[in-house]
Amino acid sequence: MKRILLDCDPGIDDALAIALAHGSPELEVVGLTTVAGNVGLEHTTPNALRLAEFYGMDVPVAAGAQRPLVRPRHTASTVHGSTGLGDVVLPEAKRQPHPEHAVDYIVDTVSASPGEISLVAVGPLTNIALALRKEPRITEWVREFVIMGGSYTRGNVTPAAEFNIGADPEAASVVFEAPWRTVVFGLDLTHQARASAEVRERFTGLGRLQHELLAPCLDFYGSNRQYRELGPAIHDACAVAYVISPELFTLQEARIDVETSGRFTSGMTVTDFASEETNNAVVATALDQRGFWDLVTDAFERVART
Ligand code: BDR
Ligand code: CA
Repeated sequence: MKRILLDCDPGIDDALAIALAHGSPELEVVGLTTVAGNVGLEHTTPNALRLAEFYGMDVPVAAGAQRPLVRPRHTASTVHGSTGLGDVVLPEAKRQPHPEHAVDYIVDTVSASPGEISLVAVGPLTNIALALRKEPRITEWVREFVIMGGSYTRGNVTPAAEFNIGADPEAASVVFEAPWRTVVFGLDLTHQARASAEVRERFTGLGRLQHELLAPCLDFYGSNRQYRELGPAIHDACAVAYVISPELFTLQEARIDVETSGRFTSGMTVTDFASEETNNAVVATALDQRGFWDLVTDAFERVART
């Protein structure tokens, strides 16, 4: 069984990524850490706690950075709603956040089990950059480091920048300069993971999970202009799916540098597929869509049954 530590900013697709991780027998979720992103930390932390209880997870949730390293906070509340889960208001959680800060939780968890933890980040990279500054050896101790972020063609918050990178480019730059091989699920890949009408049809028998979370969240998320035609992209679940079933993805080595100073290109992940000896990333380029949705549906069925 693989052990996964998920750094997230729930967020509708984050919520689905958490469900995928929890519903997958191949994974043990050892923690959720939260960061400001889609909405502020005052929402992402309660959302993570509430989602964990709604899914029946017994997992520590540690709150992290309230704002980017350098820049003012920039949210995506038009896409995810003012509290992060569209119009859905889940019952208040009984459990409190873990006493440790997310950065300490990440460092402590990874250092306690060298070579065992898949660290997966699906929000802005603020917590990960701070963890790297606190304990650079996390690069040696993680089993793998996987992100949802960036794009090698075009962005979604600006023509150049994808949200997670554009929200905190300085943090992303620290992460890509660190001596590890980041596995990257950017928009070119995640736009292949659309919750189309046919996909959503497969969720209809999932009881409360469907009625109280999936349907209203996906209605809200899918009403955003960028998603109306093909259905909403379930970005963050792709990074989790990779940890479970890497064979679902076509991967290509590359060098990625993050633009931090461009007037029009700040937050761009400049991707060189021809750099060879300076490669610092593995970039997912194609998705086995049928396999991906089978994996997600099976996991959601397990969550719905518990
Ligand atoms: C990413 O930004 C957020 O809005 C989503 O949760 C995802 O992590 C997509 O650009
Ligand atoms: Ca996210």
